Amino acid sequence: MSPASLNILLTGGSGYIGSHTAVVLQQAGHRVFIYDNFCNSDPAVGHTLQAITGHPFTVIEGDVRDTALLQQTLGENAIDAVIHFAGLKAVGESAIIPIDYYANNVQGTISLLQAMQAASHQPKTLVFSSSATVYGDPQYLPIDESHPTAATNPYGRTKLHIEEILTDLSKADASWRIACLRYFNPVGAHPSGLIGENPNGLPNNLMPFVAQVAVGKLKELNVFGNDYETPDGTGVRDYIHVMDLAEGHLAAVSYLNDAVQAHQGMHTFNLGTGRGYSVMEMVQAFEAASGKSVPFHIAPRRAGDIASCYASTALATRELGWSAKRDLKDMCESSWRFQQHTNTGA
Ligand code: NAD
Ligand code: UFG
Repeated sequence: MSPASLNILLTGGSGYIGSHTAVVLQQAGHRVFIYDNFCNSDPAVGHTLQAITGHPFTVIEGDVRDTALLQQTLGENAIDAVIHFAGLKAVGESAIIPIDYYANNVQGTISLLQAMQAASHQPKTLVFSSSATVYGDPQYLPIDESHPTAATNPYGRTKLHIEEILTDLSKADASWRIACLRYFNPVGAHPSGLIGENPNGLPNNLMPFVAQVAVGKLKELNVFGNDYETPDGTGVRDYIHVMDLAEGHLAAVSYLNDAVQAHQGMHTFNLGTGRGYSVMEMVQAFEAASGKSVPFHIAPRRAGDIASCYASTALATRELGWSAKRDLKDMCESSWRFQQHTNTGA
C-alpha cells in the first residue's frame, strides 16, 4: 500500500532527473521541496514546474554542504523523506578536479546525513542517486545488483564511497530506510518539452550531442569506435526514459514507506530497461523521430568506454512493482521536442 502524502525534499531537484521526478511526485499527491545551489541548473525551474503541473513549488537555494541550512530546511518543512540527486556527474571532469567531486558528492552526502540526524523529527527515509558506473567493466550481462563493483574513475568512486557510507549507516541504525538507485543511461524529456537535459558547453553524453547535431547547433557526431564486440561494432547501452526513471523514484519512496510492510535498511536497485541499443541504432531512431539527418564520422574509441552495458531489471520489477514503459521512439521524440523548445523557445 502506498503512503499518504509526504513532504519530500529533493536535493539537486532543479537538475535534469530531479525536475522530472518533482513533477511525478507532485502529481502523485506528494509535496515537493527543491534544494539546489544551481551550479548546473536554472533557478527559474520552479516557474517551469508550475507551468507543467499548475502547482507552485518551494525552491530553496542552498548547498548540500551547508549542514545548518539543510537542518533548518528539513525542520521548517517537516520533511518526511529526502531524494538526494545533488552532485557533480561528469566522468572526464572528475579525473581533472577529483577533490571537487569528493567534496560535492561524498562530503555533501555526509552533510545531508548529519542534517537529517540533527533535525528534531529525524527523518530517516532516503533515496540516493547512484549509477551503473559502479559496476565498472561488466563481467556478465545483463548486470544484476550482485555484480561486483569496481569504479574506474573518481566520479564512480564517489558513488561507491557513498554507497558504503549508507550501508554502514543502515547497519548502525536499523531504523533508516534507504534506497540506492543505480541508473543506467537516462535520456529523453517531459512530454511538454519544457524540461529536459540541457548541458553547459559541449555535451559529454550521446543523446544531447545527437539532438544538438540534429538541430544544427553542432556539425557532426563523433562515433567513438565501431570495432567493439557488438552487433554493429558501436557501443551498446541501456537507455532509459527520464520519465520512467522519475516514476522509479516514486516507486522507491512508496516501497520504503509502505504502510503494510515498511522496508527498513538499505535496498539497492538497478533502474534500466533491460535492453541495449547501439550508438548507430540511437542515431537512426533520432533521425526518424526528428525528420533531420544526423551526420557522423567514426572516431577512435573514447578512453574508459566499455562495449556493452545493460541492466537486469528483475529485482526492481519484483520489489518495487516498477518497470520502464516508454520505448526508444518516445525517448527520441521527447528529447527532440525539448531540443527544439530550447533552441527556439517555441
Ligand atoms: P544535474 O547536474 O542535471 O542535476 C544535479 C543538480 O544538483 C543540479 O541542479 C546542480 O545544480 C545540483 N548540485 C550539484 N552540486 C550541488 C551542491 N553541492 N549543493 C546543492 N546542489 C547541487 O544531473 P542529473 O543528470 O539530474 O543527475 C542527478 C544525479 O543522478 C546525480 O547525483 C548524478 O550523479 C546521478 N546520475 C546521473 C546520470 C545521468 O546520466 N544523468 C546517470 C547516473 C547517475
Ligand atoms: N558516444 C559517442 N559519441 C559521443 C558520446 C557518446 O559515440 O559524442 C558513445 C559512447 O562511446 C558510448 C555511448 O555513446 O558507447 C553512450 O555514451 P554516454 O557518454 O552517453 O554514456 P556512458 O554510458 O558513457 O556514461 C553514462 C554517464 C555516466 C554513467 C553511465 C552509467 O555519463 O555518468 O552512463 O549510468 F555512469
